[in-house]
Amino acid sequence: MECSQVYDSVKDYYGKLLDDRNNQTCVTLGSEVSKTVREAVAAIHEEVTSKFDGCGLVIPEKLKEMKILDLGSGSGRDTFILSKLIGPEGHITGIDITEEMVAISTKFINYHRKKFGYKEANTDFVQGYIEKLREAGLKENYYDVIISNGVINLTPDKRAVLKEAYTVLKEGGEIHFRDVYADRELDCSVRKDKELWNECLSGTLYWKDLVRMAVEVGFSRPFLVSAATFVVNKEDFQRKLGDARFASVTYRLFKLPSDTDFAPAQVTYKGGIPDHEEEFKFDVKHTFKKGNAVTVTGAVAVSLKYSRFSDEFVFKPVPTDVNGTDGHKTTPDEVDLENPFDYLDKQPENGKKAEAS
Ligand SMILES: C[S@@+](CC[C@H](N)C(=O)[O-])C[C@H]1O[C@@H](n2cnc3c(N)ncnc32)[C@H](O)[C@@H]1O
Repeated sequence: MECSQVYDSVKDYYGKLLDDRNNQTCVTLGSEVSKTVREAVAAIHEEVTSKFDGCGLVIPEKLKEMKILDLGSGSGRDTFILSKLIGPEGHITGIDITEEMVAISTKFINYHRKKFGYKEANTDFVQGYIEKLREAGLKENYYDVIISNGVINLTPDKRAVLKEAYTVLKEGGEIHFRDVYADRELDCSVRKDKELWNECLSGTLYWKDLVRMAVEVGFSRPFLVSAATFVVNKEDFQRKLGDARFASVTYRLFKLPSDTDFAPAQVTYKGGIPDHEEEFKFDVKHTFKKGNAVTVTGAVAVSLKYSRFSDEFVFKPVPTDVNGTDGHKTTPDEVDLENPFDYLDKQPENGKKAEAS
């Protein structure tokens, strides 16, 4: 499909989907979800929730008073959950290409403003392309956090999305997003299949391409936050896709100062992030327990030091010749990458948390 055909097809598909969508498949909350988040999820209007079309929750930590952007906000479920979590002093904008999606999410702004007891709404929605955020009127170097749930696979120009996201994020800002990835480059015939595209399958990136693109655009290396097997149930889809495997993966990437020295550091979590007082799970490799000093790579150290997590840690330099830990010097493109498929293979319980298409 040509790019313009992809956009028309996506708008048509998601516009119509609203009529009959009642998605309850991916909304089960795991035991690790905090009371604050559960309450926020429970407060969302049922019509918005029933038209949710992402997978799982995309909720980074420490959101109070943040300025947030939701790429491909759909009916607005995640946007409104975050509207609650950022509080009245924060602000969240959702952007979506599909007119009907923007209309339905906008319809519920006032409902959630009242529900959360806010004098002014802290949410808005704009219609636009996530590949052209500035053309849609969004400001450069402005957002603290960008989230997205099940959207980037649908765009024909993933690099443009990452580039624009980088431009509108503040220095130290984070893009935290969940999407479907493949364990390989998909065949051209699969890529051109309209039905597979709209079902979030044929537009998926090979996970290594995401890592490469992110670093080329200027982001930190992507940190793997969580992954679940994405099961393809339909037989005709399976036939077309052959042996390819898919996973629904959450990554976090940071916009770091360009002149950063990526030296390793000893970091100690102070326990100040609400709902994560005892420990803070940064990614699948790093769960920081309150008061425990750990040596981390330069990539992790600078991501903590220049982001909103900076005040939550005590940082100490370590000698660069430390042995037996991951205290070696790393740069964003130096690979210590987590393959989500290897990760899943090593985590049988994650395989059970499969998400189906
Ligand atoms: C799978 S749905 C996910 C919606 C929402 N994030 C959720 O979790 O319910 C994908 C959404 O992305 C939007 N979308 C797809 N391509 C887009 C693009 N290039 N720019 C903006 N929005 C896009 C679609 O209109 C649709 O609402």
